[in-house]
Amino acid sequence: MRKIIVAGNWKMNLNFEEAKSLFMALNQADLSQNRLEKVLIFPPYPYLKPLLDMKDNEVIQVGAQNISSQEKGAFTGEVSANMLSSIGIKYTLVGHSERRALSGDTHELLKEKVNRALESGLIPVFCCGETLDQRENGSFKQVIENQLQESLFHLSNDDVSKVIIAYEPVWAIGTGKTASTAQAEEMHEFIRGVFSSIYGAELGEKLHILYGGSCNAANSSELFSSENVDGGLIGGASLKIDEFTEIISNLNG
Ligand code: PGA
Repeated sequence: MRKIIVAGNWKMNLNFEEAKSLFMALNQADLSQNRLEKVLIFPPYPYLKPLLDMKDNEVIQVGAQNISSQEKGAFTGEVSANMLSSIGIKYTLVGHSERRALSGDTHELLKEKVNRALESGLIPVFCCGETLDQRENGSFKQVIENQLQESLFHLSNDDVSKVIIAYEPVWAIGTGKTASTAQAEEMHEFIRGVFSSIYGAELGEKLHILYGGSCNAANSSELFSSENVDGGLIGGASLKIDEFTEIISNLNG
């Protein structure tokens, strides 16, 4: 039985003082839920090391929101997977829809980012999701399969077994419009099936697939009780300590 992973994507929010107090409150919260595997927090780069140093709760892990597709060198403004790994970071988001839409993260670039992450020992949380147009014109399953195919399916069994998937329909991100539990379950089951058909049922069964897109304390319990939904990647609601910890404590009920 897969346990739940609750992840918070802080995006480009919070000053350092706000980030420290939010993280400290989470660090001190009671996160001892049987169904909880871990809590992943993705703060902006400058806060990674300070927050990692503050952390004394084993359940919490800190990850980066993005990495460079390059190993090292003359790439001003970029941060490599190796650098992150050298300060103790173990996770990174790859392919968040905001980066696909606003920062030119193509399938090919994301494939390289996945490679750099795995080479450096980082676990990629690979995001995929369709736009509203793609949902409405019925191509959404093909779109997701293509995103996975182009950036992940070159990986060996061993490497792909380290990856966590986040299914985040673009039309649900930051819009307050959550996918229904049935829509999420349909897509998660589909994604698991695609992995199983390529890498075998055993790997498919173990794969963690998180849901993202306006996930909050009011809808998380129902979403996370769905068979193929193994947790959430949470944006807005991860910035509010009461709501974020409620999402975790709801795992009990
Ligand atoms: P949201 O963002 O929860 O604010 O919709 C989710 C995400 O972008 O990962």
